[in-house]
Amino acid sequence: MHVLCVGAGLEQLPSIITAQKMGLKVVAVDKNHTAIGLKQADIGIAVDIAEEQQVIEVARQYNVVAVIPAPIGRYLTTVGGVNDALNLKGISSTAAEYCTDKVKFHSIAFSNGIRRPRQFFVGDRFMLHEAIQGFGFPCIIKPRFGSGSKGVFAILNPNELDKTIQQFFEEPYDNIILEEFIEGNEVGFEGVVQDGNLIFHLFRDKKQTELPFRKTFGSVTPARLPQSIESEICWQVNKCIEVIGLKDCLINADIIVNQQTKKSTILEITGRPAGTFIASEMIPLATDFEFLETGIKIALGFPVEIRKNTEVKPTAMRLLYDDIKRLPKKTEDLVRKKFPGLLRFSTGGEYDIDVTPIKYMITTGASIDEALLESKKVYNYIRESGDEG
Ligand SMILES: Nc1ncnc2c1ncn2[C@@H]1O[C@H](COP(=O)(O)OP(=O)(O)O)[C@@H](O)[C@H]1O
Ligand SMILES: [Mg+2]
Repeated sequence: MHVLCVGAGLEQLPSIITAQKMGLKVVAVDKNHTAIGLKQADIGIAVDIAEEQQVIEVARQYNVVAVIPAPIGRYLTTVGGVNDALNLKGISSTAAEYCTDKVKFHSIAFSNGIRRPRQFFVGDRFMLHEAIQGFGFPCIIKPRFGSGSKGVFAILNPNELDKTIQQFFEEPYDNIILEEFIEGNEVGFEGVVQDGNLIFHLFRDKKQTELPFRKTFGSVTPARLPQSIESEICWQVNKCIEVIGLKDCLINADIIVNQQTKKSTILEITGRPAGTFIASEMIPLATDFEFLETGIKIALGFPVEIRKNTEVKPTAMRLLYDDIKRLPKKTEDLVRKKFPGLLRFSTGGEYDIDVTPIKYMITTGASIDEALLESKKVYNYIRESGDEG
């Protein structure tokens, strides 16, 4: 039985390996012919995932029975296209468009009573300055079809306007949207949807850099949320699942929670698992639930375990950027032995790749604070000893 993986970079590698462990043959596509997932896959084909028709042809050629869930950005629409063309379970083309087009998502969510920031579609880049002044501050500018927080800027007051616009246009963005800036802490929502029902979910508190960039560099479970806010988020997520028409897929949502006003706002929801090894590493460690494997079974139409009210263990995940060098596998192994609370640690030393690896560590402890403390200790240690590696 062949399954398809749309994209074959480091982010998709865990999905490919999980499917193979389940006895499936993976056909993977990625435009980068040296992508690590193309080597790992049973059949690796260098096709650009933006070329939906070409990917559909590959899927037909191998008679794939499912597209496996994997982190993906804008071209989730290609997954939808393949599912529709081959009549497979999983996200549809229409649902994928709602998930990847921030204007379409806003309009369907808002008209169905889901709380949303005020939004304005600018379109033409030459109108941006005037549009922002008319829209008001604080606001967010971002591309209509974004992903990975690229090109997302907060403008808190008029004094920052010119500088931020200049920064924004360092990339040639065209479809531009403005959004009311929502104050609060960000929470990640990970879920499993089967036949339109949410059968598992997990909240994580995100750790983010200071404004204006708001880059997520870490996550903590369990999220510290009052029950009433959790319930409100679940209601909103379920409503999104219904109106977008998400049926058999993994989901990931970005939500801002304001503890003062007790309000939660969904910024984005999408029918695929979160990236940066959240789906493959953090969720199973925090919950003992094989998240990706479950997602693959759902795409295949196999029965799965329903897990509501899962007990969540304290875990802290920290992404390591340029401040931490790539370390040889041997050094990574030594660090793993030294810190008992360190569950996962990778600076990419185990991969033979020519791209920047996703470097991260996951720690645990008897409490959230202990997990965070262990994280800090490991971080300080590897920063100091990195040069020897
Ligand atoms: N309206 C908003 N208010 C506050 N923060 C926002 C808003 N829009 C985006 N952000 C911040 O920017 C991040 C990326 O924006 P998002 O809309 O999720 O785009 P992407 O597709 O790049 O993930 C969010 O996770 C959030 O931290
Ligand atoms: Mg997002």
